[in-house]
Amino acid sequence: MKFALPLSLCILLFSFNAHANDKKAGLQAGANLYRSAGCEHCHGEGGIGAKKGPPLIGRTFQKQWSDEKIKNQLILGGKKMPAFSDDLSDDDIAKLIVYLRAKHRPAPTVPVPAEKNRD
Ligand code: HEC
Repeated sequence: MKFALPLSLCILLFSFNAHANDKKAGLQAGANLYRSAGCEHCHGEGGIGAKKGPPLIGRTFQKQWSDEKIKNQLILGGKKMPAFSDDLSDDDIAKLIVYLRAKHRPAPTVPVPAEKNRD
């Protein structure tokens, strides 16, 4: 019994850590998708906004855009934004939403895709 407490503490810490790593990996996948799917091209680095797309950061964005609304925007597109229903799976969309919700967004680790005629 002497070891029961330290052991369970170890297991607890281990699973806590594994969970944190999962979360980190998910965020990184979201960051990479944000770039590879072309969001960055219009919405700027990390979502700061650019000529072709509004910013995806800040309190107003977080408040006005629910997960469901973001999902619809990605599937259906907007007035000027293309639809991504053919390019993104539900899982991809979920990862992008996690990324857009993150306070500290990791930088993508994939190269910027070659310029295509997206507009
Ligand atoms: C060709 C440029 C373009 C690309 C590529 C693009 N967007 Fe957009 N996006 C826009 C424009 C323009 C708007 C606002 C007007 C509209 O809905 O068309 C917008 C709106 C949005 C909004 C709603 C926020 C708001 O304030 O209107 C979200 C969320 C969003 N985009 C996410 C994404 C994500 C994630 C990707 C990548 C999968 C992406 N966009 C790719 C141009 C783009």
